[in-house]
Amino acid sequence: MNMRHNFGRRAKTFAAALAVGALALTGCSGGGAGSGDGGAGNGDDEIKIGVAMPTQTSERWIADGDAVKTALEDEGYTVDLQFANDDIPTQTQQIDQMITNGADILVIAAIDGTALSSQLDAAGAANIPVLSYDRLIRDNENVDFYVSFDNYKVGVAQGTALLHGLGLVDENGTEVADRPTGPLNIELFGGSPDDNNAGFFFEGAMDTIQPFIDDGTLVVQSGQTDFDTVATLRWSQEAAQKRMEDLITSTYAGGSTELAGVLSPFDGISRGVITALQGAGYGTSLEDGLPVVTGQDAEIASVKLINDGVQQSTIFKDTRTLAAQAVEAVKAMAEGNEPEANDTETYDNGVKVVPSYLLEVETIYQDNIQEKIIDSGYYTEEEVNSGVAG
Ligand code: BGC
Repeated sequence: MNMRHNFGRRAKTFAAALAVGALALTGCSGGGAGSGDGGAGNGDDEIKIGVAMPTQTSERWIADGDAVKTALEDEGYTVDLQFANDDIPTQTQQIDQMITNGADILVIAAIDGTALSSQLDAAGAANIPVLSYDRLIRDNENVDFYVSFDNYKVGVAQGTALLHGLGLVDENGTEVADRPTGPLNIELFGGSPDDNNAGFFFEGAMDTIQPFIDDGTLVVQSGQTDFDTVATLRWSQEAAQKRMEDLITSTYAGGSTELAGVLSPFDGISRGVITALQGAGYGTSLEDGLPVVTGQDAEIASVKLINDGVQQSTIFKDTRTLAAQAVEAVKAMAEGNEPEANDTETYDNGVKVVPSYLLEVETIYQDNIQEKIIDSGYYTEEEVNSGVAG
């Protein structure tokens, strides 16, 4: 049972503050800058949203941060956006600071889903609603809502993309009639073990791939198939490159044993894997023998690689839609309402099931970059060609 009743308690305060904020925006109010109210609400005329993002080394999170900030500001909120360099103490300090500065609502994409307990305790004590953004914050009851993509389905999409690249299934996951029977060698990479999403991605992918391992079509030649062994701390590109190099040395005779595909859960990891494969002489592109490598996030550098026929696929998580959903949830919280959920069962954070809103994803291959990425305005054609955003 959820012991907190933030939404009702804060309703009037926020509704009043919003009205004043709206007036201030249209220039009809003399309301000055707020002094911060520690989250308790005292007639302050601005609503402060603290937005904590994990890192700027992956452009996905820069896009998320920018999209959330812009959309919240368009709604009249004051936004304190911080990136934490993938460093846990930096993130905890930033969130402490947001609380001290009077944040009214917190939007947090955690680096380590289990490392924010004292911050969430403080938020709970100050009655500050917490929105867990993309990654579920674990082991604390003061997580009010979760917005994300359907993380299990992301994994299914990654597994399907790998199978499709190997000619085993069509784009929808239906087995191809005259498919290869193998054996085809593959290797597996997982995401960061401290990120709740990583387990879902791996589970979805393995549920999809496993039947083809069981019937002998696919062989994980290294024998490394459990999540803890294949996980990549902090989603590090360098760590992934190193592990792939080690696998090539230990299991693939330095590059002379055939390798058909690599399951990768994130574009940064994919690029590390591809660098290792190219370095070992596996070819420079899919056409000249480079193994099929999957991905996630449609990072511009990887979209270019897909366009160039180097990386096989990525999973497109449109950060614009996630940001928009987060803003809907924040607005509901600010008005004292429960945000609208479309999943109230899946995301148990160890203490409670956190009500969630999950979005759908799309798989990107070379032949749908134009339609899904360029025509939708996510990147321009120039960006895709250059591999550089902005
Ligand atoms: C996100 C992925 C991302 C990964 C690395 C995960 O929590 O859901 O989209 O690839 O973190 O940043």
